[in-house]
Amino acid sequence: MKVFTTIHDMQTEMIKLKKYGKTIGFVPTMGYLHDGHMSLLKKARQENDLVVLSIFVNPLQFGPTEDFSAYPRNLDRDKEIALNERVDYLFCPSSVEMYPRQPSVKVVVQERIDVMCGKSRPGHFDGVATVLTKLFHIVKPNRVYFGLKDAQQVAVVDWLIKDFHFPIELIPCETVREEDGLAKSSRNTNLLEQERGEARHLYKSLLSAKEMIDDGERDRETVIQFITNYLLNNTSGSIDYVEIYSYPELKEMTMLTGTFIIALAVKFSHARLIDNIIITI
Ligand code: PAF
Repeated sequence: MKVFTTIHDMQTEMIKLKKYGKTIGFVPTMGYLHDGHMSLLKKARQENDLVVLSIFVNPLQFGPTEDFSAYPRNLDRDKEIALNERVDYLFCPSSVEMYPRQPSVKVVVQERIDVMCGKSRPGHFDGVATVLTKLFHIVKPNRVYFGLKDAQQVAVVDWLIKDFHFPIELIPCETVREEDGLAKSSRNTNLLEQERGEARHLYKSLLSAKEMIDDGERDRETVIQFITNYLLNNTSGSIDYVEIYSYPELKEMTMLTGTFIIALAVKFSHARLIDNIIITI
């Protein structure tokens, strides 16, 4: 595995590989890799000649009161995981390398951000879209792999690729879960012991809501109220949002129909967790 920390070296290498006609599968991450990332790397390994992993905790996508400094980091451990997953190139630049000065140009996302995490984290998706635009230019992937745990991110990246004509195929991948259903996330490590026990109820609430819908419930508000009550009764976290929209458009709906997402975010003392379920009826 080759490790690059400068944009110049990484970009020069990628240009060379493209000349040889190699296909590049890219998994962008903020590190502290877990099974969810590994499943993306495995899929990228199957579908491409070369696999590129980036690790960069992007300051631009964190709000002033968010957990940028508390975001877990362990590059040595991540390198070992990357080696085991047969990653060919690891790109792990510093913040100064990526942002040597205040960016003079930023990507501003205008659609699909007035709901869910976009609403509660203003500017977050501008930061995501800006860093991904830079990474796509540096890595020049053929395919890029994202987990559906961040389903709103997948919807935003879909339009980033389309609007800016990146010749990249977006591959959304299923959420990977712990045995008790908790979605794998680097942030899980910041949960207190009691909170970790409660956190399984996030996915349980979504599964119970799905059962209601399978049994015929179609009223959006009733389902939201059910999940809210379930979370209030079973966790000590504070609910950031429980929302339902059409997917991937993320448009309002009153009666449940077609393909839609039920998404939630809960804040525990040192970790804000998100989860979702996408249902087609
Ligand atoms: O999903 C993430 O880890 C980040 O939002 C991403 C896509 C790596 C951009 O910083």
